[in-house]
Amino acid sequence: MTAESAPPLIQHNDDGPAALEVSDLTVRFGSRRDALRAVDGVSFTLRRGSTLGVIGESGSGKSTLVKAIAGLLPVAEGQVRIAGNSGPPQPAAPSVGRAGQVQMIFQDAMLALNPGRAVWQSVVEPLVPQRLFVPRRFRDRAVELLARVGLTPDFADRLPSQMSGGQRQRVTIARAIAGRSPLVMCDEPVAALDISLQAEVLQLLDDLRRDLGLSYVFISHDMSSISRIAHDVGVMYLGQLVEVGPAREVLQTPRHPYTQALIRSIPRITLEKREPETQLLEGEIPDARRPPSGCRFRTRCPFAQEICAREEPRPELVEEPGRDTGSAHHTACHFWREIRDGTAAPRAH
Ligand SMILES: Nc1ncnc2c1ncn2[C@@H]1O[C@H](COP(=O)(O)OP(=O)(O)OP(=O)(O)O)[C@@H](O)[C@H]1O
Ligand code: SF4
Ligand SMILES: [Mg+2]
Repeated sequence: MTAESAPPLIQHNDDGPAALEVSDLTVRFGSRRDALRAVDGVSFTLRRGSTLGVIGESGSGKSTLVKAIAGLLPVAEGQVRIAGNSGPPQPAAPSVGRAGQVQMIFQDAMLALNPGRAVWQSVVEPLVPQRLFVPRRFRDRAVELLARVGLTPDFADRLPSQMSGGQRQRVTIARAIAGRSPLVMCDEPVAALDISLQAEVLQLLDDLRRDLGLSYVFISHDMSSISRIAHDVGVMYLGQLVEVGPAREVLQTPRHPYTQALIRSIPRITLEKREPETQLLEGEIPDARRPPSGCRFRTRCPFAQEICAREEPRPELVEEPGRDTGSAHHTACHFWREIRDGTAAPRAH
């Protein structure tokens, strides 16, 4: 999606400010001449108090996207606007970061916590630059926050190595809510946990979202986690958002061939309704430094035609009779209607 062709993809329903507006965001690695555009012209709006699930194969740019939003990576082009509970939206300012406005929860809590620090000290890290509490109250505040994530006061003085993986992830969640940032980027936060713990931590995240009015961007490879926690789902392929819309629609009636193939390629998906199998996700993801012309998915797409190599598909509004009102559903495929109607024949493999 080029800069000119990318309208905000998720439209929020109320009249209040969005939690997050991302416009034409591009993040590059390497020199300008041989740059890898790990995120390339991504636009979306995150509704306040909602969760946007982000899915896509390894290397599609999911982590780069959320790190750039959090100010941990420089933005090459585009804008990130964050609406806090107060104050005007902030312009993109990667050089100064967005501390206090966005928090991150990573997959590996062990790496995210300082191994030599007592848990309470890690929990209050976001409070120090914000001076939200006088230092002598920090420990008390940490104990309150630990209680909020289901940990008793005796955890406050432990080291990360003296806790289980699930307990450590609760500590990073306590830290994420400590600074009262309304926006949290979750990069596979339950991927390293046992299945039973995954459900508990997902529930905790969702309870905190509801109780504290948080908004999440939530990355996962696990569709059951996504279908459980996400209100909207965005699908990334080679640095671009190829489909986005209400979670039920995107997961149950995906309109982009990549989303369809991605969902069918995941064995653990628990969907109430699935479309008949017509294609599989085949082939290797191309080199991100030299993405295919036109539609980036064309080298793997069973429906690709000549125009797909020439013209980059623009995101189109998926309008279907009887669709739920809610966030808009967009897909970037020249032939999504024909594929839906069964008039586009897949090529034989
Ligand atoms: N620091 C970096 N320097 C150079 N290239 C990078 C860097 N970080 C990521 N990339 C590249 O950017 C692209 C997107 O990577 P990213 O980590 O965002 O993908 P992802 O969707 O999060 O993948 P995964 O599901 O494996 O976590 C990949 O081609 C990756 O190799
Ligand atoms: S634009 Fe063409 S190549 Fe791309 S997903 Fe649609 S049919 Fe496939
Ligand atoms: Mg990643």
